[in-house]
Amino acid sequence: MKYNPGLPSIFDMEQRAKKRMPGFAWDYLSGGISEEKSLSRNRSDLSQVLLCPRYLTDVGQVDTSCELFNHRYDLGVGISPVGLSNMMWPHAESHLARAAKQANIPYTLSTMGTTPLETIAKLAPDVAWYQLYVPRDRSVMQDLIERVKNAGFKVLVITVDIPVGAKRDKELKNGLILPFTFTPKIIAQTLTRPAWLVKTLQQGIPRFINLAPYGDLKNVKHLGEFLTQFFMPGVTLERIKQIRELWQGPLVIKGLQHSDDIQRCYDAGIDGVIVSNHGGRQLDAAPSSIHALQQLDPEIQQKLTIMIDSGIRTGLDVVRSKVAGAQMAFSGRSFLYAMAAAGDDGGRQVIEILRDEMTRTLQQIGCTEFAQLDRRWLTEH
Ligand SMILES: Cc1cc2nc3c(=O)[nH]c(=O)nc-3n(C[C@H](O)[C@H](O)[C@H](O)COP(=O)(O)O)c2cc1C
Repeated sequence: MKYNPGLPSIFDMEQRAKKRMPGFAWDYLSGGISEEKSLSRNRSDLSQVLLCPRYLTDVGQVDTSCELFNHRYDLGVGISPVGLSNMMWPHAESHLARAAKQANIPYTLSTMGTTPLETIAKLAPDVAWYQLYVPRDRSVMQDLIERVKNAGFKVLVITVDIPVGAKRDKELKNGLILPFTFTPKIIAQTLTRPAWLVKTLQQGIPRFINLAPYGDLKNVKHLGEFLTQFFMPGVTLERIKQIRELWQGPLVIKGLQHSDDIQRCYDAGIDGVIVSNHGGRQLDAAPSSIHALQQLDPEIQQKLTIMIDSGIRTGLDVVRSKVAGAQMAFSGRSFLYAMAAAGDDGGRQVIEILRDEMTRTLQQIGCTEFAQLDRRWLTEH
């Protein structure tokens, strides 16, 4: 077994992560918006996707690979961008990038990452994707894209589902301010989490190092406020077209849920979409991503690469997503829970868990190739 039998699932890792992370970091990672209904819908709606097993097939060998944008990945699983990952667990971004490279799956660095983007591109050649929150200032945007291109990132992902910074009540109550500061309240929480504290002191305070050339971030006090000041209040189609001209590689829009929006992006020359409700962190009335995926116009699904995130926690969820029409399923929290639960090896372990669960699910339902999964396995209830 290539993972720790004491932590056999992402749910186990989640529980252990809670015990090893300070409260403010745990709340930031695990929390959603408002009453957290969209967060819980992501899980409950996924569990409603039922698969009808087919037997009478030799499933001794199964192929979990998936081809996307002219690259064959080993699994139909990718790592979502998570801002401030290094605050959740020190050096998480580098460890996850390395694990992704080793497993040949995508690692997406967030604009709000705190590791130099050039470092991540070197650690994960061929599988590094860059997520862009679109800066208001066009020259800043252009410069950032140029750096991402020169560093060697393969895919550019534009996140459009934060037209306004979220009001997340737990973050407000914890007094999480940026740049990250050890306030008395935060110090009190960290003292009960010695492993996190020692590693964080060794690492240093996470800073938005990739945005440092573009202004003085010292006066920013709250993440939502920062997002609002620096980034566009709603990414327009016009901006997307400008980015299309600047970026010749695969271009993906993250955060769409409606077929009309996807059609407009397709018309603007986009290559793929990640259907997402941002892990239930932006709009509590948003449908779950799996529900939105199932509502998409089948015609639009044929035109470009459709992917999904939000709530994916098992290999079974990855298979469910594929059957519902997503070529690849991403997760954010799963990988950070794993880092906090299992330390530096967490990324590798979570990938092995997902690989094992995907393989077993494919065998159980009588499908020997992940790429062949489609609606034929869906069953109504
Ligand atoms: C703590 C946290 C920070 C996030 N930061 C970003 C970000 O910087 N950029 C982005 O596009 N999405 C961000 N997301 C959303 C993730 O990319 C992804 O959509 C979401 O985590 C998927 O849901 P899951 O965590 O249930 O797998 C963040 C999510 C979390 C939990």
